[in-house]
Amino acid sequence: MKFFIDTANLEQIREAHDMGVLDGVTTNPSLMAKEGIKGVENQRKHYIDICNIVQGDVSAEVISTDYAGMIREGEELAALNPHIVVKVPCIADGIKAIKYFSGKGIRTNCTLVFSTGQALLAAKAGATYVSPFVGRLDDISEDGIALVGQIVEMYRYYGYTTQVLAASIRSTRHIIQCVEVGADVATCPLSAIKGLLKHPLTDSGLQKFLEDYKSING
Ligand code: G3P
Repeated sequence: MKFFIDTANLEQIREAHDMGVLDGVTTNPSLMAKEGIKGVENQRKHYIDICNIVQGDVSAEVISTDYAGMIREGEELAALNPHIVVKVPCIADGIKAIKYFSGKGIRTNCTLVFSTGQALLAAKAGATYVSPFVGRLDDISEDGIALVGQIVEMYRYYGYTTQVLAASIRSTRHIIQCVEVGADVATCPLSAIKGLLKHPLTDSGLQKFLEDYKSING
């Protein structure tokens, strides 16, 4: 399973990249706002900065909601760097735009997906990635991980090549659950990725090894 980091924070992206396990980055307008990146030019520069760190797929979201606007914005974003994946919301004009981008060889991430029906449309339009939002479904007492599993099964059954990118991941446990249902990618906060490392038996075992080494080597 590939790991993307779900942030626009350059320090966190660098830290995850330095761990040697980072495959890409996802951003959205809320994450860009969180970093205070104001103005279109600064935002585009920020995407290029991210691409220069990770050398992996970087999702950059269009903010237009009409077909013509999405095409214009998506083409501009894709021209910024070969690593850019154009993130498009799962609405009617978005599906149409994904079909257009797929014909042009521009990679896409269909975002804000909350049902298998939406994921089916994204795959039929030729999306590179589909992003079911796990945490937000859990927030309304639905089962976000179950949706990821259903989409994985549907794509395997029909042979769709769209990759299932589990998004709105909130915890280390979510990451493990993504592995269990066969997600292709999980995009996670840095804290959830680091949480995978934690085990008390690793800590106590390492401490004992170091003590025993010291006892024979001084
Ligand atoms: O990848 C989508 C993500 O940024 C949304 O996460 O926690 O706002 O639901 P969250």
